[in-house]
Amino acid sequence: MRAAVNRIRSTAAVLACALLWLSGASCSSETEPDPIPKVREDHHSYSNPDQIRVTRVELDLDVSFERKSLEGSATLLLRRDGPGSELILDTRDLNIESVETAGPSGEFASTEYEVGDTDTILGAPLTITLSPEAERVRVNYSTSPGASGLQWLGPAQTAGKKHPFLFTQSQAIHARSWIPLQDSPGVRVTYAATIRTPKELFAVMSAEMEARQPSDAATRGEYRFQMPQPIPSYLIALAVGDIEFQAMSERTGVYAEPSVVERAAKEFEDTEDMMQAVEKLYGPYQWQRYDILVLPPSFPFGGMENPRLTFATPTILAGDKSLVSLVAHELAHSWSGNLVTNATWPDFWLNEGFTVYLENRIQEAVFGRERAEMEASLEVHELEAEFKDLKPRDQVLHVDLEGRDPDEGFTLVPYVKGMLLLHSLEKAVGRDRFDTFLRSYFDHFSFQSITTADFLNYLNRYLLSANPEVAEKVPVEDWLLKPGLPAHAALPSSSAFERVEALANRWYAGGVGLADIPAGQWTTQEWLRFLRTLPEKLEAGRMSELDKAFSLSESGNSEILHQWLLMSVRNGYAPAYPKVEEFLTSVGRRKFLKPLYTELAKTEEGKQRALAIYKKARPLYHPIAAATIDETLGAAPE
Ligand code: BES
Ligand code: ZN
Repeated sequence: MRAAVNRIRSTAAVLACALLWLSGASCSSETEPDPIPKVREDHHSYSNPDQIRVTRVELDLDVSFERKSLEGSATLLLRRDGPGSELILDTRDLNIESVETAGPSGEFASTEYEVGDTDTILGAPLTITLSPEAERVRVNYSTSPGASGLQWLGPAQTAGKKHPFLFTQSQAIHARSWIPLQDSPGVRVTYAATIRTPKELFAVMSAEMEARQPSDAATRGEYRFQMPQPIPSYLIALAVGDIEFQAMSERTGVYAEPSVVERAAKEFEDTEDMMQAVEKLYGPYQWQRYDILVLPPSFPFGGMENPRLTFATPTILAGDKSLVSLVAHELAHSWSGNLVTNATWPDFWLNEGFTVYLENRIQEAVFGRERAEMEASLEVHELEAEFKDLKPRDQVLHVDLEGRDPDEGFTLVPYVKGMLLLHSLEKAVGRDRFDTFLRSYFDHFSFQSITTADFLNYLNRYLLSANPEVAEKVPVEDWLLKPGLPAHAALPSSSAFERVEALANRWYAGGVGLADIPAGQWTTQEWLRFLRTLPEKLEAGRMSELDKAFSLSESGNSEILHQWLLMSVRNGYAPAYPKVEEFLTSVGRRKFLKPLYTELAKTEEGKQRALAIYKKARPLYHPIAAATIDETLGAAPE
């Protein structure tokens, strides 16, 4: 971390130098920043890519639902950048059967290897001895049933209830639980895979699918994939299940279980428009296809930007496209994150802050300014609420995660504070200039993994040095290294929300009845703002008045329902309790689970209910979500 701070300080010197130069003075000979970023120290990987670098991964895996295991091999292609004779890979709970290496002849032969001690956060290093001529390494292995990056679903957990389902979630450091590799976002690999599944199931990956042989019985259940662009390991993804495809445009489509696919294609039909909106702003889409896989409800996140194939929660299928900003977000990652990638997890804000900014620009282009303003404003309110619970050291953009699980950096800070930094820069330099800057940023760093310092160098050189007044208005270092928001942060505002807030306050004060509220015309965003403007404590009579007027306990919109259930728990509104239980046992999205369990656990009675519900629900949750709720409830897994 100290090194990072020093790097950031030295970039401030570059800026000072540029300012002096502009004013006609000379300055000391500051060295030029390196245009090709090297891999920086990653505290979340045991690997040694500076000496030996994996450049390609070839998977050959059988999917066994019976044993809840992926079984087969990973072949890694190596490039040597240093003198080392040991390759160190990341693993977690893998059963390693043997390791082989091959030189120029291509013949594989066994080699020595050692699995080191397991660290609870990092897993275990796999150290492989290499001869000087070794070019490839093949690890024969199988995954454990509890692998943190895999979720094995029984038929009951799917929409169709007939077939099992498997999906991976590799970000941040879970790829190592299903592939032995250099699990650092600073290492980019191309990949290929052969996946064998039970015959009735279908496999998809974050890659190009090689055409299957035309309904050849012998090849059913065997799928081949290629990812020709170099990507970080956290973007390698696989799903297997009863999956169908429906096209939306030439290059976009939806994969989902048969009963969901049509609804999803309708909900996401604006995806092509979204793509064109980003392309116009920031340059061509680089990944050929953009498809969306809708997962069963236990998917622990809202979405995951696996390249070519976003993974998404079904909870955004609201029926009215009101929650598709999530698609805008994951699509935006095709530029911010997948094309230009955070080199280490403290740089995570480069992925997410840029993406929330782009997401908002997409929403504006496709659905208009008012919707974009409302969505940004909701996000800022949520950030402000979260600041209250965060230690100062977690309120900075460049978070110190040494010795910590990178998951601890998964707060709204990298997302929304990151977005606000870009929004503030945009306001200060003007939109056109900022768009030009961002476009060149994506172009310059495409297919590279970069650090916060790299960004800062680039910003100083190509934006701030020519606009010194901007550097004064937007104190970038304060944004990166100080808690909270800088005094002059440009915050989004929404006039629609001002009206909704006024109404919420008037209703609460008794100045207006619910019948006089134009709720019939409200968007999901206005609903959320309305409910969140009301005081935390609402009397039982007020709660049931709201429920009677608007059937909130029956809402089919997951965001509105979640907000309402949160208020119900907070205010002991018993009529909604059955819904709380139903929600917690049918949805596995961590963003919904954590606040509800936290709110329940605030009273003794609520805590008992939470534990009873959790006992039933835990087996349905993804290991990542279960780990979070274990912590929330202080409940040891049984
Ligand atoms: N890449 C993230 C999800 C992620 C981050 C998974 C870190 C594991 C570790 C994805 O793009 C994301 O941000 N998803 C959000 C939705 C988005 C609309 C804010 C989510 O899942 O809530
Ligand atoms: Zn994201």
